[in-house]
Amino acid sequence: MKAPYVEEPTGPAAEAYAERTPRSAALSEEARRVMPGGSTRAYGFFKPYPVVFERGSGPYLWDLDGNRYVDFTYNGLSLIHGHAYPPVQEALFEAIPRGTAWVGPSRSQVDYATMLCDRIPSAEHVRFTNTGTEATMLATKLARRATGRPLILKSIGAYHGSYDDLEAGLYGIGNLPGRTVLARFGDIESYEQAFAEFGDEIAAIIIEPVLLTFRVAAPPEGFLPALVELARRHGALVILDDCLMFRLAYGGSAEKYGFAPDLTCLGKFIGGGVPMGVVAGSRELLGLLDSRREGSVYHGGSFNGNPLACTAGLVALTDLTAERIAQMDDRAERLRTTLRDASRTVGLQLEVTGEGSVLGSCVVDEAGEPDRETGAYLHLAAIDRGVFFGPDGEMALCTTLDDEALDWTIDAMTGALEETAEWLKSTAR
Ligand SMILES: Cc1ncc(COP(=O)(O)O)c(C=O)c1O
Repeated sequence: MKAPYVEEPTGPAAEAYAERTPRSAALSEEARRVMPGGSTRAYGFFKPYPVVFERGSGPYLWDLDGNRYVDFTYNGLSLIHGHAYPPVQEALFEAIPRGTAWVGPSRSQVDYATMLCDRIPSAEHVRFTNTGTEATMLATKLARRATGRPLILKSIGAYHGSYDDLEAGLYGIGNLPGRTVLARFGDIESYEQAFAEFGDEIAAIIIEPVLLTFRVAAPPEGFLPALVELARRHGALVILDDCLMFRLAYGGSAEKYGFAPDLTCLGKFIGGGVPMGVVAGSRELLGLLDSRREGSVYHGGSFNGNPLACTAGLVALTDLTAERIAQMDDRAERLRTTLRDASRTVGLQLEVTGEGSVLGSCVVDEAGEPDRETGAYLHLAAIDRGVFFGPDGEMALCTTLDDEALDWTIDAMTGALEETAEWLKSTAR
């Protein structure tokens, strides 16, 4: 997601941060000499420099200075069981000596594909990729080939990876003529208008079922099934981007919200902590990739479905049971309630949103707009107390975050909210 420009935080939180993290400062400086801005991806950067971590275990991360953090980012929501999950580690230790990649299928690839087809109701076949971005790119390509139409319809503010056609509606980019048209998330009429205007040119609607930008926006009741119905009426396909929200139910967000997409893109935790993406769908649609057929769609990828990702993914998904999902969701709800109460008590306008095990925590101003400077202060004040969440206030839980870690977080966040409220008063803005 786009990182909005925020001034460098000042005040006690920034001073404490500099004192606690000198080794992160030094390595960040070294990193800036060889990488743009000292980092290798846009997500996660914050000023003055990001924490440099050294190791993780379960819900915890430790930085180069030995500080411990309860992690609420899990590498951009890509580690559903937290860091260094022992069952995944054991499976990887067992798999690595046999080699890391080869051409053609493998036992672990077929086992994982079978498991995904069993678990996801709309999946008869799957194709592996290496990232979520690759999965959404491939699904886009398949939809265009299957329908012979050029346009993809997406929501403003929805993120589907680092691919030009799917970046419309982000970073100030509008409709991309001949490629992408935009509508408003949650507003079925704006989708109807897009079909009224571009109807028989639209190959597919791509959906992020829950938006995660400052505010976590859950879909209004019935919105997603209505989108599917609309697409069907106009001969367009529905691509569900479930890279983040597969976590919402055993069979993913389609199960939770009651609809059946044509193609489902998975990524993030689907590889058990190893890079992986997946496109799942009907035998007919995925059949476009069948190399036995004349004129099939060429889709390469040297590391697609490599044994490490398949081995780790299979273990991680097997352990993501409905019970564990419900437990994560309950804990997240407790955190949401506590953050709302604590911010009210200290007089800070914190808008807490969320769905399932995902939370948005956004400091807002009198007009209800994000107050990015105060948000940046709260972010550092939380880090100073050992709670690490995303720079835009996004938080997610993992299955190994237990009540002890949650209680500890609630205490630390109460302190961070108090300090932020004090700071805000002192700036008299
Ligand atoms: C909804 C969604 N789709 C796709 C992607 C892209 O996944 P990746 O970073 O693995 O390319 C992301 C990443 O943040 C995402 O949140």
